[in-house]
Amino acid sequence: MNKKGFIFDLDGVIVDTAKYHYLAWKKLADQLGFELTHEHNERFKGVSRQRCLEILLDIGNIASTQEQFDSWMMEKNIDYLEYIDKMNESEVLSDVPKILEYLKEKNIPIALGSASKNARPILEKVKLLHFFNAIVDGNNVTKAKPDPQVFLIAAEELKVQPENCIVFEDAIAGIQAANNAGMISIGIGNTKILSNADYNFKDFTEIDLDFLDGLIKDRRTI
Ligand code: BG6
Ligand code: MG
Repeated sequence: MNKKGFIFDLDGVIVDTAKYHYLAWKKLADQLGFELTHEHNERFKGVSRQRCLEILLDIGNIASTQEQFDSWMMEKNIDYLEYIDKMNESEVLSDVPKILEYLKEKNIPIALGSASKNARPILEKVKLLHFFNAIVDGNNVTKAKPDPQVFLIAAEELKVQPENCIVFEDAIAGIQAANNAGMISIGIGNTKILSNADYNFKDFTEIDLDFLDGLIKDRRTI
């Protein structure tokens, strides 16, 4: 049996911060005079802050100087952090602690693989930081998802071969990144949107411990 490692995305997998990202970006779009829809928001998932603003300006057909761009990025993050500041354990998505506890009990290494530069404070707020053997986030990468870099660094830090890593993701770019890393990808959320994943679940309440055991023991076809 090969040693396995589990890698979790943060936003939309562990906590539903996608709604706060959306509200903060929407405020900026309102200010700039156009509507940012939930459909637009799908394109923001898993994507770096800078890339999100590029997409947003593209949607609104708005040009900017570098200085203005940097100031909008900062403004959005200040608004986002106001939401984060109010977070607590109640915002952890259903059954996430159950899965983390089960893996911990079995001594399976766990990493975070997130595009966010706010990952640590969020994990602290929701009191899950202690579960993670490695945290790889937006501060550690030079290439954004769908590039596999974030997950490959996480595998290296866990000392587990990429092909023995299992990734939980809610974003199209994240599933692509896991697939590009040669890892097993598990889509959490909309099956149609995440159809490139090896496995799909609506949320963690649909994942039973037998399924996890199957992954841990190499029984991939459960
Ligand atoms: C990802 C989110 O996890 O982190 C993206 O899905 C977000 O929507 C990205 O843009 C960067 O987050 P932050 O917290 O560094 O602005
Ligand atoms: Mg995500």
